[in-house]
Amino acid sequence: MKLSVIFDAAEKVSTDVIIISLFENTKKIPSELNAINKASGGGISSLIQNGDFTGKLNETVIVPTDKKIVPKRVLLVGLGKSTDFSLDRVRQAAGTATGVIREKRFKNPSILLYGMEIKGISMEDVTRSVVEGILLSLYNFTMYKTLKKEEKTAITNYSIVVQRKEILGRVKSVTNRAQTVAEAVCFTRDIVNMAGSDATPTFLANKAKEIAKKPGVKCKILSSHEMKKLGMNGILNVSRGSSQPPKFIILEYNSKKKSNDTIVLIGKGVTFDSGGISLKPGANMDLMKADMSGAGAVLGAFKAFSSLKPSAHLVGLVPCTENMPGGSALKPGDIIKCMSGKTVEVLNTDAEGRLLLADALSYAKKYKPDAVIDIATLTGACVAALGTFASGMLGNNDELKNRVKQAGEECHERVWELPLWDEYQALIKSTIADIKNTGGKYAGTITAACFLKEFVGEFPWVHLDIAGTFLAEKNTPYIRKGASGVGVRLLTHLIQDWKKMPDASKRSS
Ligand code: BES
Ligand code: MN
Ligand code: ZN
Repeated sequence: MKLSVIFDAAEKVSTDVIIISLFENTKKIPSELNAINKASGGGISSLIQNGDFTGKLNETVIVPTDKKIVPKRVLLVGLGKSTDFSLDRVRQAAGTATGVIREKRFKNPSILLYGMEIKGISMEDVTRSVVEGILLSLYNFTMYKTLKKEEKTAITNYSIVVQRKEILGRVKSVTNRAQTVAEAVCFTRDIVNMAGSDATPTFLANKAKEIAKKPGVKCKILSSHEMKKLGMNGILNVSRGSSQPPKFIILEYNSKKKSNDTIVLIGKGVTFDSGGISLKPGANMDLMKADMSGAGAVLGAFKAFSSLKPSAHLVGLVPCTENMPGGSALKPGDIIKCMSGKTVEVLNTDAEGRLLLADALSYAKKYKPDAVIDIATLTGACVAALGTFASGMLGNNDELKNRVKQAGEECHERVWELPLWDEYQALIKSTIADIKNTGGKYAGTITAACFLKEFVGEFPWVHLDIAGTFLAEKNTPYIRKGASGVGVRLLTHLIQDWKKMPDASKRSS
């Protein structure tokens, strides 16, 4: 499918269907719709007057235009009350309308981009949201379907129509960038949705190598032999119960730009989490094929970086392994020495993610980073605390936390902060080793972050727990049931216009 931006009058676009969005209880047709409304013989205004379309969020109605105008049909989609307007509503409306178009198997739809520059929301933001709504809603995971034809969209060309020439250039460039991001999200959804036996550590390492074929991106894969030399015993011990070799992926973008901030992104890559010897219950264990969603987010972000060309120097660290209960598996009660030299009493082999992340955080030090963000499906407790609408955020630096929070609001991959107070740190002290890998029955998300904090160097750090957001349990206007691709939009949005962090001496803690 081709996505194009065209300058034309709405009533003159040659298209199966033109999508027009309207607020709830619109009394007066917006001036930019006057021409198409008039040309269609007052078709739009009479629908509103007759109450056949009220404009409730995600309400849709298709009206044939009886050759009065060039578009064959108009598809009205509701944006809800103008007072509740948000970019996510734009994304939802575009996704909902696109869903109708997909179902009806129209081939060359178009969507009118107009107005909406209210409440300080720019045309750029609206464009980005429309493009994301369209492309993300069209995502369909067909890899394992044998009858692919039915699954395929009929759309060949999707046009974004602007009626004002002066915004054409801006809309085009934002559309390109948003398309890059949306495609990266779909790439991530694909690898997360794949079966655990297919999306192995070796598979992810090969994907990273493919990403590194793009300009400006480099990739290095550490095998278990190299990890042994570095003392990465967190990841190595988790991998002991599995017959799949672990891989430590290192991606780098802009490695030569020393004048810019260095940001390290770390993604948990457990390609299947059975729990290990502390075996998980059977119900829903299949979902643990997606325990590499953090890894997926980092890989997806790197896929986008080469086109987005952010100014920062970016490093991706993605420790990948299975967590299996094989004969050589790590046992509850074992004590391991992580890369930093700290000893860990492993009380539960199902708390494996933090063991890999510990080594990655230690490895991050060598880049002298200005910011480190790790993203991981780390704790079931995070789902209990925040549900499915927010990722958990914990960290040691207010500036970085604020940036992540703001980026999350702007792209609607929202995060919510949990405290990392000193008192919690005591919960992971071990009697026989330095620390233990579980913190008791309360505040599981916080004690997991406390564990990570033990390995964080003198750098600003944010931990994102995506255990509640990595999967959609049902279809929504632009996320299909299955992997959500969470993190790709958040990380790319955060980083694409990255401003240097304040000097270390001025940093808050
Ligand atoms: N991958 C899981 C966390 C998880 C659970 C992610 C549900 C997504 C949905 C993680 O490795 C895990 O098993 N965590 C344990 C930690 C506990 C043993 C301290 C948990 O949350 O139960
Ligand atoms: Mn686990
Ligand atoms: Zn896990």
